[in-house]
Amino acid sequence: MTNNSSELAILQQQAKTRRQIEAAITQRFAAEDEGLQYALRAAKQAGLPEIQISPIQGKLLQLLAVACNAQKILEIGSLGGYSGIWLARALPSGGRFITLEINPTHANLVRNAFARANVSDRAEVRVGRALDLLPKLESEAPFDLVFIDADKPPYPQYLGWALRLTRPGSIIVADNVIRSGKAFEEPGDEGMAGIAEYNKRIASDPRLMSLDIAMDEDYTDGFAISVVRR
Ligand code: DHB
Ligand code: MG
Repeated sequence: MTNNSSELAILQQQAKTRRQIEAAITQRFAAEDEGLQYALRAAKQAGLPEIQISPIQGKLLQLLAVACNAQKILEIGSLGGYSGIWLARALPSGGRFITLEINPTHANLVRNAFARANVSDRAEVRVGRALDLLPKLESEAPFDLVFIDADKPPYPQYLGWALRLTRPGSIIVADNVIRSGKAFEEPGDEGMAGIAEYNKRIASDPRLMSLDIAMDEDYTDGFAISVVRR
């Protein structure tokens, strides 16, 4: 009993320390401005699920975009436009950000969020099924960075398109590739199967160098980061 309660106290202290570290890093390196906060409020009011990336993940996307000298960025799955704002802001003037969204109502919400965040000059929302829209992007390729954060069953197909639409040195990022470790077990549903297959492919495809990083608020989910080899 004493043992259990002291173990519990240690775990609680560790969780508290992790939250404090996350807050300190966010405050110093990834503070949200009014544009990002507006996007969060509007998405919540519209009833969208609160499953957007964290501010630290947003800053990492910006850092990766700058590292590969991104002029053109593609996002698959817009949600409320939060990650899109982070990504569009990493572009130089004249850069292009395209995000694909299946839901026309959500797409309008995202356009409004982009306007409020002052990125409408470079950020565009295209409405439709990603698997229908992706083939039409070939004339606009190569993209320097692709961010995949949409429905999970087609993740392997999205990876295939990301490889077609990028160049050597491009970076491909996918969200939700860990799922509390379930992504590495025998998949229980189509979504998990898509993610499991995505992980297998990026780990073994000779065209890529890849790593999964646990980095959401509670370190149970995170990004796959892949670089297209030169
Ligand atoms: C889900 C989807 C996401 O992209 C995410 O970041 C978290 C959860 C979901 O469909 O449950
Ligand atoms: Mg996600």
